[in-house]
Amino acid sequence: MLLAGNDIEDASIESEVLLRHVLGIDRARLLASLDADISPEQRQLFMKLIARRSKGEPTAYITGHREFYGLDFRVNRHVLIPRPETELLVDKAISLCRENGYLKIADIGTGCGAIAVSMAVNLPSVTIYATDIYTEAVETARQNGVNHSTEDRMTFLRGDLLEPLPEPVDMIIANLPYVRQRDIPDKGPLSYEPAEALNGGEKGLDKIGGLCSGAGNKLKANGTLILEIGQGQGEAVKGILHKYFPSAEIKIEKDLAGIERMATIRLTQQ
Ligand SMILES: C[S@@+](CC[C@H](N)C(=O)[O-])C[C@H]1O[C@@H](n2cnc3c(N)ncnc32)[C@H](O)[C@@H]1O
Repeated sequence: MLLAGNDIEDASIESEVLLRHVLGIDRARLLASLDADISPEQRQLFMKLIARRSKGEPTAYITGHREFYGLDFRVNRHVLIPRPETELLVDKAISLCRENGYLKIADIGTGCGAIAVSMAVNLPSVTIYATDIYTEAVETARQNGVNHSTEDRMTFLRGDLLEPLPEPVDMIIANLPYVRQRDIPDKGPLSYEPAEALNGGEKGLDKIGGLCSGAGNKLKANGTLILEIGQGQGEAVKGILHKYFPSAEIKIEKDLAGIERMATIRLTQQ
């Protein structure tokens, strides 16, 4: 009720997630113990968390967890909360790796490591570079790699775009900041997320452009580049990719909501 009264969509689900977090139990146990009492301390903590959520703080930052690609990820205020639409990129990337026998991947701007760790879990033969410009993000990704036992096949690097990559890879995948600077809100749930994870500059394309300009040197001859893009950016991203890869086939694909969400290019052997 408290959340519903504060315009929170899915208020009952979110309240349940916060209650389970306080009690430290999963859904099945919660449903099996609906009549059980909670202690005054638990009740007080629950009300505190509800108050934080009512003010707009995302549930994932309150609990420190978010599910992505069927896996549990640790998240914190230094990283973007992974979004369901990014799962589309991971699906596509995993299929392409299987089809082409790709073994070396780089996830640029890894944040909590959602893309990199999901790929490592589902592709047991690949090795993955996971990079971010922020130390805190790299450390969060490393922690998630450890939690999912993939860290021995992952290399976590801090640095600007492709600069830390020590060698060319089969696939570069990136969900870089692509929000136009003037569209970044100073209120609401998005304002809790790191501006550096959202801000793509004046047209939203600064980081994507920077990555594309260097990708030719960091992709192997048969390699693939996959980018998440924002609503209405398809044509502009096509233009950028065409500039750096004039002979490559460029694909722009939509997500389930019909929004242009993914740009892919495959290099062909000369
Ligand atoms: C939109 S978030 C995506 C995070 C994660 N890949 C995901 O899909 O949930 C973009 C990430 O790019 C990182 N980033 C921003 N500028 C960067 C740069 N110049 N080089 C590398 N990473 C950068 C941010 O710190 C942030 O973690």
